[in-house]
Amino acid sequence: MHVIRRRGWELPEGLTTPEHVFFNRRQFLAGTAGIAAAGSLPASAIAQRVTDIPDPTASLYPVARNAKYTVDGEITAEKVATTYNNFYEFGFSKNIVRAAQALPLRPWTVKFDGMVEKEMTVGIDDLIKAMPLEERVYRMRCVEAWSMVVPWSGFPMAKLVEFAKPLSSAKYVRMETFMNPSVAPYQKDFRYPWPYIEGCTIAEATNELAFMVTGIYGKVLPKQHGAPIRLMLPWKYGFKSLKSIVRVTFTDKRPVGLWEKLQASEYGFWANVHPGVSHPRWSQADEEVLGTGGKRRKTDVFNGYGEYVAALYKGMEDEPLYK
Ligand code: MTE
Repeated sequence: MHVIRRRGWELPEGLTTPEHVFFNRRQFLAGTAGIAAAGSLPASAIAQRVTDIPDPTASLYPVARNAKYTVDGEITAEKVATTYNNFYEFGFSKNIVRAAQALPLRPWTVKFDGMVEKEMTVGIDDLIKAMPLEERVYRMRCVEAWSMVVPWSGFPMAKLVEFAKPLSSAKYVRMETFMNPSVAPYQKDFRYPWPYIEGCTIAEATNELAFMVTGIYGKVLPKQHGAPIRLMLPWKYGFKSLKSIVRVTFTDKRPVGLWEKLQASEYGFWANVHPGVSHPRWSQADEEVLGTGGKRRKTDVFNGYGEYVAALYKGMEDEPLYK
């Protein structure tokens, strides 16, 4: 039998639209020629291309750990978590650390718009300094069937919602990652509907587990993890937790994320972790625990966070809650 080996997360080429419609290969390769070149540069040369000023929030970390949220399992070694990343804007492999260093982090603003009392654009340092920072240890379960346990620093998403003052008629939060193909060359690949979009309901956003992340392992968040601010919804597959957020929109229409737009039959809006609901191309029954030499553990319903979130989905049994 002929099997095309492809990482599970990657979509087959031309999956949704005939290739000739969307993909001028020559133009794409020309645009991404710099990707290969960047990969062969020494780290110092990459650093020189970056014009960042020192991070004004770096001195805020470490922050006190909130002991309420514990995970049954060891914390993943920092070196493992910080070098095995999904950040498709910088590459389709897990090894994007060096490429991600090209992302300039200041100035950085987050725009709040849509169904809010008043639209506003806020500087990231003002936003972070206005928020009550704490550390939480959560398990993150990727849809690709691997997981890690990580100490994230940040603040409850409920505080972000409160800050934005949405209208009572708003039902969803739609979030957007930066769009800058000159530093994130894979955003030139127009098979993907960049920028990266994700969303959740207001009820999910204000659930106590929903967390805005600005740091990790007691330090400011590194670029490969989605600096300067990313989301963490630990009961959902990792793709819901978008990185490097620049826009937060309140709306009464269900947002369609990048992966749902590409392949709705595999990646849905809810994407709650469930071991009994297989991905169309692989089982979700268990997961590889990163940094343990390939050990696997059984996946938990809602990634082990059912006591906090199961009530959110009462009466919604007809919805595809687990993809
Ligand atoms: N956000 C953006 N903007 N781009 C991405 O490619 N990948 C997602 C999510 N957020 C992704 C993203 C996926 S698939 C996962 S599993 C997690 O980020 C990985 O987070 P980590 O690299 O910090 O472990």
